[in-house]
Amino acid sequence: MAQERMLIRGGQALTGAVHVSGGKNTAVAIIPATLLSEVPCVIENLPDIDDVCVSIQTLRYLGARVEWNPEQGVLIVDPAGVSRVDVPLELSRRMRASYYYLGALLARFGEAEVPLPGGCDIGRRPIDQHLKGFRALGAEVDTVTGVVMARTRGLIGTEIFMDMVTVGGTVNVMLAATRAQGVTTIYNAAKEPHIVDLANFLGALGCRVKGAGTDVIRVYGTDHLAQRRGYAVIPDQIETGTLMIAAAATHGDVTITGCIPTHMEALTAKLLEMGARVDEQDDAIRVRSTGVHRAVSFKTQAYPGFPTDLQQPMSALLCTAKGTSTIVENIFEQRFRHLSEIERMGASVRLFEQTAVIEGVPQLHGAAVEATDLRAGAALVVAGLMAQGTTEIYNPHFIDRGYERIEQKLSSLGAQITRIEE
Ligand code: EPU
Repeated sequence: MAQERMLIRGGQALTGAVHVSGGKNTAVAIIPATLLSEVPCVIENLPDIDDVCVSIQTLRYLGARVEWNPEQGVLIVDPAGVSRVDVPLELSRRMRASYYYLGALLARFGEAEVPLPGGCDIGRRPIDQHLKGFRALGAEVDTVTGVVMARTRGLIGTEIFMDMVTVGGTVNVMLAATRAQGVTTIYNAAKEPHIVDLANFLGALGCRVKGAGTDVIRVYGTDHLAQRRGYAVIPDQIETGTLMIAAAATHGDVTITGCIPTHMEALTAKLLEMGARVDEQDDAIRVRSTGVHRAVSFKTQAYPGFPTDLQQPMSALLCTAKGTSTIVENIFEQRFRHLSEIERMGASVRLFEQTAVIEGVPQLHGAAVEATDLRAGAALVVAGLMAQGTTEIYNPHFIDRGYERIEQKLSSLGAQITRIEE
């Protein structure tokens, strides 16, 4: 296979305006949810990223008729022809969110077979809470040679208390509960913006969901789900944040349009604390920065806390902040691998299990580095944009899983970034 590398010549201040794409983690929940509808669904504002493409391939494999217009981000799904309830290993291992086909297929067809999911290697990622939820709703669930098999003669609404806040578990139980008899109440539910977006999409299918965005969600099961109005997914919170961080990192002046500023509060607070300037409008954020940044400390938490997905790009920025920054990663066990790569560029980092202590250095230098997962790749892009000289990022395909046309967007802001294949 051809070896790809992303090349970044650092030191250019990013300036101008850039439009944010539709949300990855909301898209990968809503695409399987189209299976719940009895009529064709139209979804707009989907990002053209690898995870969306894999999910679309999964729908086609199951037998759905799919029209996908990646330039316009519009997907039309007619689930009438679905004839299978299994997801093949070659698709499930390419994407974490393949597990959402469990909840959606179980609700719609009473049966699902999905291999334990792949996705970014950022530590142990069990799905026991998803399976606990399906069992509580009345499904029989077994895992046989790495494949989760779930079946039911009819799900029945119930009360489910999540042992920890889990985005995937909350989404999957919401999907399964849509066609259960009666009401399902999820306690200790995740509150991320994409949970609210999924609830709104389920509403557009005619399923009443109350409380999304709080830690108690009620899903009122129904026998008839059919898309009643068009649906556009919300803008990507993590792409917005990555662009905000890149703007500050290059001491630039960037306006990110089409975003939701209230989703960004945890990051905005930290950027302000570092000395950057952040101005919010209705659906745009302008980030400007001139002087030396101050070091800051934070812990990753479920929404509305500081998102783990932005910890990696933010820690890259902190590598040149003046002073000592301490980051505690509370969600995933192995989400600091990018820092060892940024050390090759001159960063000074000490790692203690879930804590990273970063001593800011005045300048990073370009080096050859390797992306080990999606947000690690984004962190290396931020580091490359800040560094003096050229940074070569190996395995940029990880970045394509979640960022739409990243080179094009950054180039439009003045970055010197290209990709080469050998
Ligand atoms: N957990 C369990 N058991 C479960 C489920 C989760 O122990 O049954 C634990 C996990 O090991 C983790 C914590 O609970 O320690 C939270 O995991 P969560 O279920 O919230 O994460 P996820 O659903 O696997 C989604 C996003 C991630 C994002 C996390 C946290 C998708 C497809 N993925 O993962 O996105 O980091 O929520 O916000 O929505 C990314 O976009 O780069 C990414 C990794």
